[in-house]
Amino acid sequence: MLRREILTIAALSLLPVVAFAQDTVKIGLILPMTGQQASTGKQIDAAVKLYQAQHGTTVAGKKVEVILKDDTSVPDVTKRLAQELVVNDKVAVLAGFGITPSAMATAPIATQAKVPEVVMAAGTSSITEASPFVVRTSFTLAQSAVPMAEWAVKNGIKRVVTMVSDYGPGIDAEKSFSDRFKAEGGTIIENLRVPMRAPDFAPVLQKAADTKADALFVFVPSGAGAQFVKQFVERGLDKGGMKLIATGDVTDDDQLAGMGDAVVGVINAHNYSANHDSALNKSYVEAFRKANGGLRPNFMSVGGYDGMHLIYEALKKTGGDASGDKLMAAMKGLAWESPRGPISIDPDTRDIVQNIYIRKVEKKDGELYNVEFATIPNVKDPVKAAKK
Ligand code: PHB
Repeated sequence: MLRREILTIAALSLLPVVAFAQDTVKIGLILPMTGQQASTGKQIDAAVKLYQAQHGTTVAGKKVEVILKDDTSVPDVTKRLAQELVVNDKVAVLAGFGITPSAMATAPIATQAKVPEVVMAAGTSSITEASPFVVRTSFTLAQSAVPMAEWAVKNGIKRVVTMVSDYGPGIDAEKSFSDRFKAEGGTIIENLRVPMRAPDFAPVLQKAADTKADALFVFVPSGAGAQFVKQFVERGLDKGGMKLIATGDVTDDDQLAGMGDAVVGVINAHNYSANHDSALNKSYVEAFRKANGGLRPNFMSVGGYDGMHLIYEALKKTGGDASGDKLMAAMKGLAWESPRGPISIDPDTRDIVQNIYIRKVEKKDGELYNVEFATIPNVKDPVKAAKK
């Protein structure tokens, strides 16, 4: 081990004491502000800023300061930034994490330093098991993929080909969709995968078309949906007999308005739509748009907004004590109304429990939206539920 690393580890274990002694509670917010996942960074940063603009920057007598860092969605960079934030800036909380590998790379640091890691974006089930200091306000892929499979079976879809990004969340989506679809009597013809970085969808789309399946089930991460839809349309697949079904990552509110009429009618399952019908969501969308030049908030944004709420409420419960053990204990079991609907933190798994909505892409007032038409209430991560 390098001397520098030994020193870092020694420094990490001294931190909890420091966090309580300070008047300022620092949150190290690590997001992809540039690169392929930049839309996630932009959405979450905007939501965190909105939360603080609406709720102030003082909680339980402590000033809450957010330090934003761009990890360009490279996990080695995430890890270095997390280490620096803990050791140099003495942050009480690490937050953000645009992709699964970034969240995973940070987990050992969270454990070592006893600093809560609030996952606001990444969606692979196993992230919460990587450290007892991980807590999630985003979603898991199985939360959307399982209800999507159940809807497909009930609506006469019998033969499906799946296409996912080839990394953690894609593999979770593929497996949880396929397992449930087969258990309900459906047939999976083929499981296709595309690289996570710079994917070319054309070859797999050709393969999918050749199967003559009833439907193609797709997961690509937020930010890649528009490119996927473009290639889907270019190959004329929107005009063939194969239906497109998806997790809501594909018909992402951030890009949906520009996808064109080819996606009208696409059925998908997800945790948040900018069109969600509640008073809280209407005011959220309005405030978010106003503060961000008309930008529509997406499902990543609510992960950030609710992540801030979780930190604020936990600080209130501890009376401003920002030591990691106390904050984690305070976060477990918290429940509140989010712009997406009612949510809570499962005290056993530290994962989010939330409604999943089945939606159909429709044109409303000339703009495309995911319009919710069925609700599956209080969904726990199905992957963890199956392990029990
Ligand atoms: C992830 O890397 O965990 C991830 C990223 C974007 C999504 C879903 C999952 O839309």
